[in-house]
Amino acid sequence: MKTRHYFGALDALQEGQFSIRELGNRSVGATLHQGKPVVMLNFCPHAGAPICRGKITASQYTDAEYQLHLDAEHPVLRCPWHGWEFSLESGGLHFESRLRLAFLEYELDGTDLFVWI
Ligand code: FES
Repeated sequence: MKTRHYFGALDALQEGQFSIRELGNRSVGATLHQGKPVVMLNFCPHAGAPICRGKITASQYTDAEYQLHLDAEHPVLRCPWHGWEFSLESGGLHFESRLRLAFLEYELDGTDLFVWI
């Protein structure tokens, strides 16, 4: 059964940077993406790294002429241990569909962020 935990004030979150809290014996990270909270377990699905200590960066893609482009509208979270990049939107990897970030349910109560674990 999940329990509701207070994470903190919404206005303390920043785009491109995680806040990390210990809630219900789990490490949880939260950031903002396009003004909305993104909340997840601080645990990489590959090998268990504290993934919220990784860097949020623009995703990359190549066009038909093999030119590399950066896409800041669709950022990725780069794991600090092996560098795998997970979509901050879908939680997935571009080369592997089974591993996903463990997003958590959350709710806002006024300007306070609560997380369900
Ligand atoms: S532990 Fe995250 S990519 Fe390996």
